[in-house]
Amino acid sequence: MLINGNDILAKAHNEGYAVGAFNINNLEMAQAIFQAANETNSPIIIQASEGAIKYAGAKMLYRIVKTLSEEYPHIPVALHLDHGTTVGSCVKAIRAGFTSVMIDASHHSFEENKDMTKTVVDIAHSVNVGVEAELGRLMGIEDNIVVDEMDAVLVNPNEAEEFVKYTKVDYLAPAIGTSHGAFKFKGEPKLDFDRLAEVKRRCNIPLVLHGASAIPEYVRERFEGTGGDLKGSKGVPFDFLKESIKGGINKINTDTDLRIMFMAEIRAVANKNLSEFDIRKFLNPAKDAVKKLIIERMEILGSVGKV
Ligand code: G3H
Ligand code: 13P
Ligand code: ZN
Repeated sequence: MLINGNDILAKAHNEGYAVGAFNINNLEMAQAIFQAANETNSPIIIQASEGAIKYAGAKMLYRIVKTLSEEYPHIPVALHLDHGTTVGSCVKAIRAGFTSVMIDASHHSFEENKDMTKTVVDIAHSVNVGVEAELGRLMGIEDNIVVDEMDAVLVNPNEAEEFVKYTKVDYLAPAIGTSHGAFKFKGEPKLDFDRLAEVKRRCNIPLVLHGASAIPEYVRERFEGTGGDLKGSKGVPFDFLKESIKGGINKINTDTDLRIMFMAEIRAVANKNLSEFDIRKFLNPAKDAVKKLIIERMEILGSVGKV
């Protein structure tokens, strides 16, 4: 059933697990996510970026998710706008039927971020839609970075407390050292778990980890084994995902892993049979591989059986 993202995340916050928030651009990714949720009885958040909306259309993505949610009525699902950059972008998603939106004003000043977020919260709450906001910048922590520099980049727990009180935002993404994409850490992976715990203690709401793709060895090997190049790629280790959930993370954003897995399988079919042109022969194995990856991730997040 398509429901407010806050209902899904409030339960995860109360019970201490995380729900996977998986990005889609098309039908096949949405099918893979729903199939994984169905096999594991897991709640899910399906999210679309502004880029995804430009590609497929907000209403189309809504209709895909709404239709699948009717096929799997026992699965709690929220359709979430990922990294909405303006109030208008959030309103457009809400009008299209999204049940959760992120206003990402983290590149603006703290005061502007507060005001933009509050505006979105006031609109979204009047129509039963949950809201996510972000504090700090998504950037990897370098081994030799000094405390002052870290403070300038990562979430400030004092600000987080003030921000949540003022805006009444439902869930918050605190920057603790992750970044988007396949190249997250130059040296050893490092996240600021102490800062995370402090934000959770002060805010006591569901928290969100962006840039949470893990790039497991077998995924990278499959991509490279089929002719791809991911030299130097590094994701968030599974142990770090578990540690972050202990520290209060309840929504784990994953896009890059799904894209890498999907494209590796497409290339595998293309390499094997140069005369193949039935697109279903490419898309079915890609969907299956993504579904398996998501099931593995749901087990790590602890969302299995939480419907
Ligand atoms: O936050 C980033 C997500 O991976 C979405 O990426 O803007 O390329 O759709 P995108
Ligand atoms: P990844 O690039 O690590 O998959 O992060 C996705 C994300 O944070 C979407 O908002
Ligand atoms: Zn993100």
